Amino acid sequence: MLNEIKDKINYSAPKDVKELDVINIFELEKTAKTVLPKDGYDFIYGGAGDEYTLRNNIEAWNKKGILQRVLADTENPDMSTTVLNQKLQLPVIVAPIAAHGIAHDSKEAGTAKGVAEYGGSIMSISAYSSSNFDDIENGLQGNNRWFQIYMSDDIEVNKNVIDEAKAVGASAIILTADTNVDGRRERNLRNKFVYPFGMPIVARYLKDGADDTSSETVYSRKKLKLSVEDVEFLANYSDLPIFVKGVQTPNDALKAIGAGASGIWVSNHGGRQLDGAPGSFETLEDISNAIQGQVPIVFDSGVRRGEHIFKAIASGADIVAIGRPVLYALANGGWKGVKSVFEYFEKDLKTVMQLAGTQTIEDIKNAQLFDYNK
Ligand code: FNR
Ligand code: LAC
Repeated sequence: MLNEIKDKINYSAPKDVKELDVINIFELEKTAKTVLPKDGYDFIYGGAGDEYTLRNNIEAWNKKGILQRVLADTENPDMSTTVLNQKLQLPVIVAPIAAHGIAHDSKEAGTAKGVAEYGGSIMSISAYSSSNFDDIENGLQGNNRWFQIYMSDDIEVNKNVIDEAKAVGASAIILTADTNVDGRRERNLRNKFVYPFGMPIVARYLKDGADDTSSETVYSRKKLKLSVEDVEFLANYSDLPIFVKGVQTPNDALKAIGAGASGIWVSNHGGRQLDGAPGSFETLEDISNAIQGQVPIVFDSGVRRGEHIFKAIASGADIVAIGRPVLYALANGGWKGVKSVFEYFEKDLKTVMQLAGTQTIEDIKNAQLFDYNK
């Protein structure tokens, strides 16, 4: 406990706010490493176990190729799309990420401002945010948001947090289902990592209302046994669309839809949970084939380039979410950095679309990828 308090006082997040000249996300990751405290960088970068799945998330992209197309009569691609009736200018949204304050002094409010200044996207707000809903709204300025829940073992508490998320304008609930227990993250164990500050949204999960929202204390209140009934409960109680996040098999996707999910979120939590799992991209096509467009698919884990967005959409995703790239951008440049990262993905996807002869997101959906196994 004493150590936790000492760490809380000592953690010093970056404060710079500046536009970034993003060459690519891997270079952004390298500079983030130089500006972040070591335990903070390791928390963000790290995966579970051997980090096999973390690596697979990147390597998996090389299993399919994009075919160059010529004479396709395309110019100035339109990257806009809609998901659950929400219009997006780019098929990229912010994944739910805990504790943005580890990356930057401005915390989630900084990310939110970056998203708003870019011109809007969807910000997924993690239950484990380090800012409260009001601070996030100050940055978001009315832009779209979804709320990601880690359920409490107390149903009244769950109702209470859903009520609040709805009141602040969340237009969907994300049930993260792959974190019933935390993956064994060796970097965090080695660093004796603890969250350097509280988690205001879930502080209420603690029976005594204590301010000690260290990860262990909050996790001790987390509902571990999740089933289709939890999806039914969330859908009925919230009356909002529910995404089930962490789906990696066709059967689980169908099970979630059967329980009332309005969207499937294909993800392996950025390789932070079950190590030994395939790259998330490797699981996408089968899931998409199984659900046959019944509900939208959000894809995440390993999206770093325009090519990756293209391949995910060509394999059945409607949109993609980015996790670590957002925090690396925030660490390097605060809200301006987050805006720069969205602009980077926009530019990169545009180039890929032009070279692949696709004018619209619908064209990407219809594009055939090159299969090396054939
Ligand atoms: C996450 N992720 C996550 N997911 C979630 O549902 N709730 C959460 O609070 C968090 N917290 C979190 C913290 C950090 C530091 C990271 C890197 C990730 C997982 C996240 O939503 C997403 O699935 C992955 O980040 C996607 O992989 P990439 O884009 O980081 O490769
Ligand atoms: C993580 C948890 C908070 O990935 O989801 O760190």
